[in-house]
Amino acid sequence: MIKSKNNEKFWNKFYKKRLIHDKPSNFALFILKFLKKKNTKIVDVGCGNGRDIFYFKKNKIDFFGIELSKSATVLIKSKLKKKNEKKKIFNDNFVKFDYKKKIIGNFSIYSRFTWHSISKKNETIFLKKMSKIPNLKYLFIETRSDKDELCGIGKKLSQNEYITDHYRRFINKHDLLKKIRQNFKILYVKESKGFSKFKKEDPCLIRLIAEKK
Ligand SMILES: C[S@@+](CC[C@H](N)C(=O)[O-])C[C@H]1O[C@@H](n2cnc3c(N)ncnc32)[C@H](O)[C@@H]1O
Repeated sequence: MIKSKNNEKFWNKFYKKRLIHDKPSNFALFILKFLKKKNTKIVDVGCGNGRDIFYFKKNKIDFFGIELSKSATVLIKSKLKKKNEKKKIFNDNFVKFDYKKKIIGNFSIYSRFTWHSISKKNETIFLKKMSKIPNLKYLFIETRSDKDELCGIGKKLSQNEYITDHYRRFINKHDLLKKIRQNFKILYVKESKGFSKFKKEDPCLIRLIAEKK
């Protein structure tokens, strides 16, 4: 079992070196169209440097961010001017986070490139937790699939789990849908390349929108 600490170290270094730009992801652009017709805040789980949070904020969508890396949360807070906005960014593990206590009102989970950061056990814990939160409306997920070219590269932990410079669990679409369908209705799902091209990379991803039953 991978410890979150290992990833924490990797991502702290990554954000300290500012290895990623702050343009919003294509997924954020895709989800914004959906969000505009709904009344829900987004909780960006594993929000990184806040690139998508700042995009949602600019488009008048209320936001919260949860991020394991301290250096990333410090960076986001330094860019947010208002005290009450800084308070919406939490340096925490999104699986363990106390949503009931800390998020007031309706919200939706936004997970871009973070679902594949958690183990299968933590996925089960997280979805069970979400099923018990009445204020939760939607799940928005974009994650690497087990059809991605990186699956199989690095130190093998199990059939779908590999470590390169950090841990990844490549997601099987059917397994994920089976689990999510227990408490959510699937509104959209697509597994494809082309969603997030970056330099020479074009990963095979699963995009999903699900509504709480
Ligand atoms: C590939 S980055 C994606 C960041 C951002 N969502 C984006 O699209 O740019 C994965 C992020 O998830 C964070 N992360 C991984 N596991 C986490 C956990 N259990 N709780 C909170 N953050 C986590 C990492 O620190 C990292 O910032």
